[in-house]
Amino acid sequence: MCGIVGYVGHSDGRVNAGHNALGVVLEGLRRLEYRGYDSAGIAVVADGTISSRKKSGKLSNLIAELEASPLPESLTGIGHTRWATHGGPTDQNAHPHLSDEGKLALIHNGIIENFAELKLELVRKGVVFQSETDTEVAAALLGDIYRNQMGGDAAKGGLTRAMELACQRLEGAFTLLAIHADQPDVVVAARRNSPLVVGLGEGENFLGSDVSGFIDYTRRAVELGQDQIVTITADAVEITDFYGAPAEGKEYHVNWDPASAEKGGFPSFMEKEIHDQPDAVLQTLLGRSDIHGNLTLDELRVDPELLKSVDKIIVLACGTSAYAGQVAKYAIEHWCRIPTEVELSHEFRYRDPIVDENTLIVSISQSGETMDTLMAVRYAKEQGAKTVSICNTNGSTIPRESDAVLYTHAGPEIAVASTKAFLAQITAAYLLGLYLAQLRGNKFQGEIKDILADLGKIPAKVQHILDNEDQIKELGRSMADAKSVLFLGRHVGFPVAMEGALKLKELAYIHAEGFAAGELKHGPIALIEEGQPVFVVVPSPRGRNSLHAKVVSNIQEVRARGARTIVIAEEGDEAVKAYAEHVFYIPETPTLLAPLLTTVPLQIFALALASAKGYDVDQPRNLAKSVTVE
Ligand code: F6R
Repeated sequence: MCGIVGYVGHSDGRVNAGHNALGVVLEGLRRLEYRGYDSAGIAVVADGTISSRKKSGKLSNLIAELEASPLPESLTGIGHTRWATHGGPTDQNAHPHLSDEGKLALIHNGIIENFAELKLELVRKGVVFQSETDTEVAAALLGDIYRNQMGGDAAKGGLTRAMELACQRLEGAFTLLAIHADQPDVVVAARRNSPLVVGLGEGENFLGSDVSGFIDYTRRAVELGQDQIVTITADAVEITDFYGAPAEGKEYHVNWDPASAEKGGFPSFMEKEIHDQPDAVLQTLLGRSDIHGNLTLDELRVDPELLKSVDKIIVLACGTSAYAGQVAKYAIEHWCRIPTEVELSHEFRYRDPIVDENTLIVSISQSGETMDTLMAVRYAKEQGAKTVSICNTNGSTIPRESDAVLYTHAGPEIAVASTKAFLAQITAAYLLGLYLAQLRGNKFQGEIKDILADLGKIPAKVQHILDNEDQIKELGRSMADAKSVLFLGRHVGFPVAMEGALKLKELAYIHAEGFAAGELKHGPIALIEEGQPVFVVVPSPRGRNSLHAKVVSNIQEVRARGARTIVIAEEGDEAVKAYAEHVFYIPETPTLLAPLLTTVPLQIFALALASAKGYDVDQPRNLAKSVTVE
C-alpha cells in the first residue's frame, strides 16, 4: 500500500544525469499508482527551499494541480501515492508532510504504531499538527531531532543521522523518505517491514516501493534489508542500520520489460492480464521438469531429506492467494498424502497454532509484501517450521525471508484485483505438490509425467476460453443491474466459486458470495428468491468419483426456488443444459487441474459487468495492490 518514489540526479550534464525530478517522480508514481490512489503528492528541493504539491484522489488530480501551479525544475524529489490508513483521503492528509518550518518534507508507507505518544510529546513542545496522519508525526519528529537535538547541523551527518535517531523511536511498519532544503542533493530513506528498493543509475539514483518506480531508467536494483537506512545522492548509495553501522544491500538485475507493465492495446490492465494468462501458466511451467517428467525445482533449496520428513503442510495466504492455496490443498493431499491446512495469514499466528520442525509452511503471495503473510511466515519460522514461498515478485520480502522460493512467472500484475497471478500460483502449487510426491515416492514417475503433460495443455485451453469470451462478456453486460450474485462449487470448484464472488465484489461492488454447493441446504438456500442469479461450477461428468450428479442436484434445489442458473461445465456435458439458463463450456481437463480453466469465465464476467457499470476495473474503490499493513 502506498507507492513511494525518490530521485537524485546530477547537475553537471553527465550521461543520463540531470533528468528533472518532477518528470522522474511522476512517471514512477504513474507506475506505482496501483498501490494506492486516495491521494498523491510530490516535493522537490530547488533554490534552497522545499516546494510541494499534493491532492486527494487519483494521480490525475495532482497532475492537474501541477499544471495550474507548476513546481520549479529540480534534481532532487520525492513522490507518494496513498492508500489511506490514518485519516481520510483529503488534501490535508495527503503526503508529503512538512516540518522544520517547511524545510523538511517526508513521505511514508506503513503505520507508526506509537504515533499517539509521540504526537503528545511533540504537541507539548509546541508543534501544531495540520493533518490526522501518523506520517505528520514522523515528519515532526524527524524535524525536531534535526533542528533541536542536532542543532540543524548538516555537517553532523545531517538528515541521515536524524533519520537514525527518529527510527530508533518509531514502532510499527514504515518506509520513510525525506528531503531537506539544507541538503539539496540528498534523499534519505528508512525501512522497517515495508518495501523499499534502490535503483542504481549513472549519475543519478532512485528509490521506489518496487522496481516499477524507476524501471524506465535502470534495471539495476538493490534490495534493502530490515531496519536499514539508505542515503542516496547522484553518485552514491550508502546503507546503514538504524544505529549508523554500515550495512549492505543485495544488487540484482530486473529482468522484466517495462512494456509488459503497459496495457498492450487492451482498454484496461485487468483485461490485458486476463489475456496474459496462457503465458503466465506457460512461463510458470517452463524449465521445471525434464523430458522424463522429473521435476527439477532447482531454486527450491530445501534439503530433500527435510521435505521427506514433513508431516504437515500449512498454506498461508490472504484473499485470492488464499483461494489458490485451497486449490493446492486438494492437489497436495491427493498426490502426496500429507495433511494440508490452508489458513488466512492474519488469523494464523493469533491462535497458538501447532507448528514444529516437521511442518512445511507454504506461503502464497503475488506481491511478496503482504504484511499479514510476512508476519505469519516469521512466526512459523520462530517455531522451527521450514518455509517455502510461492511468489510473483522477485526480491520481495516474503521470499527473501523464506527458506526457499518457487517464483511464479506471471509478469508484473498491475490491475489491483488479481487474475493472472492466481492461475500462476495454482500452477506453481501443483508443481510443488508433484515435486513432493516425486521426492516421497507417492507417485510413479509415469503418473507425474502424465499430470505434467496435462498441465502443459492448459495454456492452449485457457486461450480457447479467451477466444470465445464474447458470450460471457455479453452476459456480464446484461447483468449490470444485478444486486446480488451467488457462486456455487464443490471440491476444487469451491475455491473457484469464492474467487468468482471476490472478483465481482471487488470490481463491480455487488454483493456476491461463494458457497460449497453442498452447504447451501444447511442455511444459505434461504437467500434464494425468484430471479436470484446463481453461477454453478459443475465438475466433469467423467471419472468414477465425479461429483457431477451431486452438483446437478444442487442446481435443481436452487432452480426449484426460482434461481436463474448460469453454469460453467465441461465440453460435452449435454445433460447439464436442461438445468441452466446459460451454459459456458470449458475444454476437457482432469478434475484437479480444472480451476485453471473454470476461473477464467468468472473473471471475464466480473470484468464485463463492472465495465458496463462504468467502473475503473484497474483501480477499484478502497483497495490497494500491496497490503503492507496488518
Ligand atoms: C484480490 C486480491 C487480493 C490479494 C491479497 C493477497 O483480487 O488481489 O485478495 O490476493 O491481498 O495479496 P498477495 O498475493 O500480494 O499477498
